[in-house]
Amino acid sequence: MDIFRIEGPVRLTGSVRVNGAKNAALPIMAAMILAPGKSTLKAVPHLLDISVCNELLTSLGCKIQRQDNGNLCIDSTVVDNPVGDYEIVRRMRAGICILGPLLARCGRAEVSMPGGCAIGDRPVNLHIKGLEALGAKIHLKNGYIIAEAPKGLKGKEIFLGGSFGSTVLGTANVLMAATLAKGRTVIESAACEPEISDMANCLNRMGAKIAGIGSPRLTIEGVKTLKPTEYQVIPDRIEAGTFMVAGAITAGEMKLENCRINDMMAVVDKLRNIGVTIDAMNGGCVVCRRGKIKPADITTQPFPGFPTDLQAQFMALLSLADGNSVVIEKIFPDRFMHVAELNRMAANLRKEGQAVIVAGVKKLIAAQVMASDLRASAALVLAGLAAEGTTIVNRVYHIDRGYERIEERLSPLGAKIIREKE
Ligand code: EPU
Repeated sequence: MDIFRIEGPVRLTGSVRVNGAKNAALPIMAAMILAPGKSTLKAVPHLLDISVCNELLTSLGCKIQRQDNGNLCIDSTVVDNPVGDYEIVRRMRAGICILGPLLARCGRAEVSMPGGCAIGDRPVNLHIKGLEALGAKIHLKNGYIIAEAPKGLKGKEIFLGGSFGSTVLGTANVLMAATLAKGRTVIESAACEPEISDMANCLNRMGAKIAGIGSPRLTIEGVKTLKPTEYQVIPDRIEAGTFMVAGAITAGEMKLENCRINDMMAVVDKLRNIGVTIDAMNGGCVVCRRGKIKPADITTQPFPGFPTDLQAQFMALLSLADGNSVVIEKIFPDRFMHVAELNRMAANLRKEGQAVIVAGVKKLIAAQVMASDLRASAALVLAGLAAEGTTIVNRVYHIDRGYERIEERLSPLGAKIIREKE
């Protein structure tokens, strides 16, 4: 297993390009199941999760090829094994989003129930509720979700909100299935995340009829068939936010290329309150911090609120604030694996139920720490850039799931991160 050896503190200056969004690319890849033929996706990042998704689609019968120019070609002419195998789905929870498109295309799907993970239980009741509303018969057998709709799906009005608000991949699943259902579907309390809008735009390019994109009410007029397409995935707002925090925590000056700050207003607003300057420029932005880090209160919420996927990174930043902050996690109440690890680096964090009280400290001190999930690991890398001494981050495969060669991309800006074998 690889580890990162990080020397700090450093000041990051220079420019970095943000990659295509993992969480848009994954459901868009699943959407290709709906349109038999060859599609081309651009700006799909080279990540562990994307490789697992390739493996999953290949196991269904698709043929996938990464071209020399980086484009991903998905040939879904044949989908003859509508089974999402446990051995693949357990490695990547987004595997669940083949359920809707497989059901719509094949009239049947068997997908392994995804297990819990380091960020919490992660149930799929809303995915099932939505697909049942479209007429699917669903039961569980040997840890698999068996969904059947031999006579096809039928449009319906569906309320998809749950106790924690909307569901991102649940919306993706029901939306994909509804594109080929007979008649009109209305998804109320749909997720409004830009990644869902990106997928919906891609589906429309394939011939779907989706209205209300970006709003909590999606209206879908079912069509008989969808056609293959060529589509470019949006920039990754979570990677962009992570880089912004890298600039902020190191008192650096970073230019982010390929970044849509309109998709990140909650994050940009918070950073500005913290004392970070963010100036939009053509296709990106410049991030700079000169003064002290001011404390802030953060509550994670569905889009357009502050994203849970940046909670850990901001906690690393607020650890060094000039005062006390409160971070409340409303999406995944157990997503606090980074708290104990940041405290190992001399942060002063105290968990109280769904909240963490962050008492700002003057400096972080390097330590040996353990990556536990993707975003928690990113927080440890950020802390390592600012901490005094050599931080060792173990199990960096978690970071590789969502950030492409992060060490190589931040090194030209002054980061001292070396990947080593354990
Ligand atoms: N929920 C239910 N029932 C369901 C589905 C979800 O109660 O059937 C609950 C969840 O337990 C959670 C809340 O609803 O409390 C929101 O979960 P959601 O379904 O929106 O999460 P997801 O679709 O499984 C995606 C991202 C996550 C991101 C969340 C929230 C992908 C591949 N994953 O997960 O990204 O944290 O939305 O924005 O898109 C990451 O990239 O590190 C990551 C974990």
